[in-house]
Amino acid sequence: MSGLRFPDGFVWGAATASYQIEGSTGEDGRGPSIWDTFAAVPDAVTDGHTGEVACEHYLRYADDVALMSSLGLSAYRFSIAWPRIQPSGSGPVNSRGLDFYDRLIDELCAAGISPMATLYHWDLPQALQNRGGWAARETAERFAEYAAVVAAKFGDRVRSWFTINEPWCAAFLGYASGDHAPGITAPAQAFAAAHHLLLGHGLAAQAIRAAGAGEVSIALNCTSVRPGSDNDEDIAAVEQIDGLSNRIWLEPLLRGEYPDDMLTLAERFTPLWYVKSGDGAIIKQPLDVLGINYYTPTWVRARRNAQGSPAHPGSEGMDFTAPNGPVTEMGWRVDPTGLTDLLVRLHKDYEGLPVMITENGAAYADSAVVDGQVQDVDRVAYLDGHLRAAHAAISAGVDLRGYLAWSLMDNFEWAFGYTRRFGLVHVDYATQRRTPKASADWYRKVITRNGLA
Ligand code: NOJ
Repeated sequence: MSGLRFPDGFVWGAATASYQIEGSTGEDGRGPSIWDTFAAVPDAVTDGHTGEVACEHYLRYADDVALMSSLGLSAYRFSIAWPRIQPSGSGPVNSRGLDFYDRLIDELCAAGISPMATLYHWDLPQALQNRGGWAARETAERFAEYAAVVAAKFGDRVRSWFTINEPWCAAFLGYASGDHAPGITAPAQAFAAAHHLLLGHGLAAQAIRAAGAGEVSIALNCTSVRPGSDNDEDIAAVEQIDGLSNRIWLEPLLRGEYPDDMLTLAERFTPLWYVKSGDGAIIKQPLDVLGINYYTPTWVRARRNAQGSPAHPGSEGMDFTAPNGPVTEMGWRVDPTGLTDLLVRLHKDYEGLPVMITENGAAYADSAVVDGQVQDVDRVAYLDGHLRAAHAAISAGVDLRGYLAWSLMDNFEWAFGYTRRFGLVHVDYATQRRTPKASADWYRKVITRNGLA
């Protein structure tokens, strides 16, 4: 047989997140989340968009599972909205919130699609934000209680758990640049939040294991960081940004300790009051698989007058411009070699670590639906290139377990609202009509042949 084949048992799926697709934010006792609050702030989200209606997945989940079936997905990664389960972030459990995920999970199981649950994809109960959010240690403790509730309830059917989605975004976009909820611009809080997200991961992992609920993972947006040149200043800039993007997460998770340079960097903004003895051991829970969300590399070079990026504290004097070349609608440079490099690097640095691509995909200004079709050739090319890159990593020895496309359908792209479309399936927000794009058709064929033609 010609073409590229993936290993037997390779998991093919797609991913979404609660606030991005569910809508029904006031239904069945759901409490307010930081994204409801943030989206209501003028100018925080493009055109004032919010997640109030989104894709109406809360109401249309059965149809959406049928769509997944028609794509031939073997797995579906969704997130559970903490404010549906505990409307005020702690204490009483809202059974109607649990019921929704119960129905969704049953529907998935009946369709033969493995449910993979993310516990935190950024919709923190507002009540916890009022007490400091992730900058407060308490949030990690409450998170573990919530994890115990859902693991006990769904562990019989959900065997694959992702604790936190992209803690880098939650910490640094949420608390340093303020681009995401809760919209805070205080690097000191961002470093504390980063630590408490990791601590929350460790405590939740313990809770999932105590419930006998299956495999534990976390989804990180690690990336390949590339220098503008090989001069010393550029290499030093790369080292620092690699630290913030990759090592500050990977090292505590897999070795139980922060890299020294990251502690030094954090101390430029805040004393390390939030790191307590014993935390490293909690954070370093065995990972059954590491989830990687990959979209683009990061380029960085030292430029005396460059302002840096508020999302990377301490990056004054750094310039993040990517070299010329194709970009997606997010402005992200398309470079699949960054995925191969990242996976191979993880394989070298953390021997034997199984990984799964838990998100990969692209936003493009898709053409309109014409005769029931959307010809998203750019997206097909993007996905094809990245699957080839993933395959190259497997050939280099990486233990890659699966690939989940971002996203099943167009949805609320955070600060960009509905103006960026990542879906394999087009959503007409006026009618909620779903139309599989050419990429959905292409992906179905990839799944059927377990590889590329
Ligand atoms: C990562 C996030 O997990 C997801 O929520 C987001 O929509 C995609 N990247 C695209 O930006």
